[in-house]
Amino acid sequence: MNDYWGFKMAMTQDDLKRAVAQAAIAYVPADCIVGVGTGSTANFFIDELARIKHKLRGAVASSEASAKRLQGHGIEVVSLNDAGELPVYVDGADEITRHLHMVKGGGGALTREKIVAAASKKFVCVCDASKLVDVLGKFPLPIEVIPMARSYIAREVVKLGGHPKLREGCTTDNGNIILDVHGLQILNPVELETALNHLPGVVTNGLFARRGADVLLLGTRDGVQTITL
Ligand code: 5RP
Repeated sequence: MNDYWGFKMAMTQDDLKRAVAQAAIAYVPADCIVGVGTGSTANFFIDELARIKHKLRGAVASSEASAKRLQGHGIEVVSLNDAGELPVYVDGADEITRHLHMVKGGGGALTREKIVAAASKKFVCVCDASKLVDVLGKFPLPIEVIPMARSYIAREVVKLGGHPKLREGCTTDNGNIILDVHGLQILNPVELETALNHLPGVVTNGLFARRGADVLLLGTRDGVQTITL
């Protein structure tokens, strides 16, 4: 963005999020049902989708909040069970590496996000530049847990080197709790994701490494960078 004199104006984080949301529209085929993520970047994407809603058959939402926003724009929200395989899922991330492994779930919607991502041919991740990291783990890793398993999972997470903290006042769309795990340096995201999946009582963990993103649209001051593997 340039000002009157041609100097680059400081872009805000919201400007960067809006820019990647706009760029993601190019990945949405005409006449499709699109998978839609959750969070502030996904909200910008939903607002962009509203401009092309006449070309869409509908959207599958990864949270009640996104479903409400889509409906507010007059976009039909379709259940994943009725939609079949989706051509594309667009969502943000809390952290992402150049291998397109992610930590997600800052907004608490990780389980539905992982389901919709798994049911989609392509995952387009939309992030501002602050989300790109070399090693995952600085952002606390969310784990959605069945309430009765809270203490057991917390003890197991400590054995894995993490410091779990209950997300106060949070009940997920699925009626569960979230443990945010601090202090991890996740050098092997696929292995950790698998190990956490095997703990009884874990519904989902916020590592998206086994099924990472296919494309990262990264909002930088110099424009939107496209990163693929
Ligand atoms: C919600 C998520 C979001 O994608 C993640 O928290 C990023 O959100 P934002 O776009 O607001 O930074 O995983 O569960």
